[in-house]
Amino acid sequence: MASPAKPDIYIDEETGLDHENSGTQEKPYKTVQYAYLQKNGEASFFTRDPESPPEEGVKWKPAAKAALKKAANYADAQRKKAGKANELAIREKQEQESREKALEEAKKIVIKDDPSLPEAHKIQLAEKIQLDPTPRVQVIGRVMRQAKQKNMLFVRLRDGTGYMQCLLAGDLANTYHAQTLTLESSILIKGQLKAVPSDHDAPMDRELHADYFEIIGKAPGGEDAITNKVQMNGDAQTLLDMRHLALRNEAISSVLYVRQAVEHAFATKYWELDFVKVSPPALVQTQVEGGSTLFEFDYYNEKAYLTQSSQLYLETAIPSFGNVYCIEKSFRAEKSLTRRHLSEYTHIEGELDFITFDDLLTHLEDLMCGVLSIVLAHPRTASMIKKLNPDFTMPERPFKRMKYSDAIQWLNEHDIKNEDDQPHVFGDDIAEAAERKMTDIINKPIFLTHFPTEIKAFYMQKDPQDPRVTESVDCLMPGVGEIIGGSMRMDNYEELMEAYTRNGIPSEPYYWYTDLRRYGTSPHGGYGLGLERFLAWLCKQHTVRDTCLFPRYMGRCKP
Ligand code: 4AD
Repeated sequence: MASPAKPDIYIDEETGLDHENSGTQEKPYKTVQYAYLQKNGEASFFTRDPESPPEEGVKWKPAAKAALKKAANYADAQRKKAGKANELAIREKQEQESREKALEEAKKIVIKDDPSLPEAHKIQLAEKIQLDPTPRVQVIGRVMRQAKQKNMLFVRLRDGTGYMQCLLAGDLANTYHAQTLTLESSILIKGQLKAVPSDHDAPMDRELHADYFEIIGKAPGGEDAITNKVQMNGDAQTLLDMRHLALRNEAISSVLYVRQAVEHAFATKYWELDFVKVSPPALVQTQVEGGSTLFEFDYYNEKAYLTQSSQLYLETAIPSFGNVYCIEKSFRAEKSLTRRHLSEYTHIEGELDFITFDDLLTHLEDLMCGVLSIVLAHPRTASMIKKLNPDFTMPERPFKRMKYSDAIQWLNEHDIKNEDDQPHVFGDDIAEAAERKMTDIINKPIFLTHFPTEIKAFYMQKDPQDPRVTESVDCLMPGVGEIIGGSMRMDNYEELMEAYTRNGIPSEPYYWYTDLRRYGTSPHGGYGLGLERFLAWLCKQHTVRDTCLFPRYMGRCKP
């Protein structure tokens, strides 16, 4: 049978159009490749002859052999590509169907808590128990890691006390819930807890061989999976927006675990030292550390503030209780975004009665070293600190003591300039950057003392030897800078009244504070330690934003 005549197809590189035209003389294609592909090579292809004189009208000539060969190769490659894509789509469809089928099958597998087995004893994941004879236990936790193998599912659980490796095998691994298990789902597992060799990667060298499990709360997978929501190396702001989920990360939560251990250690140390804990108010009508960082609000038509420090209230308590302390929130309307400033922070404050300035410094060393000893004696906390800050060592006592005037000289000797890029002069407020440089170079705790009266708060006692300066102290730590601010308090009534005037503070709202100087005054002093900064130092964190549960700073009050 004669083969049907091949059609004539026309191509004009200048005026043709590939997609819109049909390849006739009136509507030519633009490229040989496209024309060839449309007809699968089964046509006679003509291109416009560019040499022919325009007055003779459009002339066509057979397409060049080289161009046709190139087009044939291209068409061949396209066909192969399409074939592969098609194959892949078919394979994916088959796989999807077989997955769906497998999941439908999996749904049919029903597991039961076998009543003939010994009753499962409820334990926490880090609880130590006898493994011989093998006990049957029940645990609850969230899935932090999982690995699938044929008929086996390894699941690592987390419950806050620790971690446990669990093995779901056979039918359990083939159930619908096991097949679709997602990270962060909460799950109950019963089974036999068995020892594993210590070279196995299993917490506490043991593994739970499940005989039953139940999903308590399934976490989303796919797009919404926690791994898509929280990326530890991602943008810091996004990570803070997702902090409610980011807290589940081991490194983040271990800083917060150390935090509670440190708070507990402070309470323990204060108890040992016979300090009495009091709880001053957060809503106040007086300032302590200058008006510029006050959060003001309307309190039943009166002006009030969120407290900047509980110090003045601690001073009211010493006549009743002797030495006192508190662990409360303080608030500062800081207008800067540094790595050590928060708007809301936890302030550990102490006030000591009938002391000298030197007593205050000795107490601070004793307190900090005592707290560190308590914390490091707790194995879980110590191991977290070791992981977070491997080079941490207990500070040597006594801490280095340095007068403000000597620090000014030290900064100039080391060519560290003030904020105006000038050499430091007596009276300068040592800025954060200069202070940190100095602390990092000296690289040990420093008690920086005797700051000039003008740059310190109104209540600070003047040094009897040199009234230009106060009996004040900042404790500076490498990597962070100031973590404590403290001083002796002005205890003379007249002097305090003058200090209010000098600082432009109306004395009337402070009547209760002033009265302390009238009703049996005493040489006394105290300090405030920023818990977040202490932790940034101890756990080697770049910023105090990482040492609190939900940081608050300029521009962030969520979540
Ligand atoms: O030096 P400060 O302002 O001292 C006082 O408030 C005293 N009235 C305390 C007292 O004597 N009872 O603050 C004390 C400490 C600082 O050394 C720092 O650790 C911390 O509180 N601190 C802050 N921490 C985080 N963010 C802020 N904005 C902070 N402001 C102060």
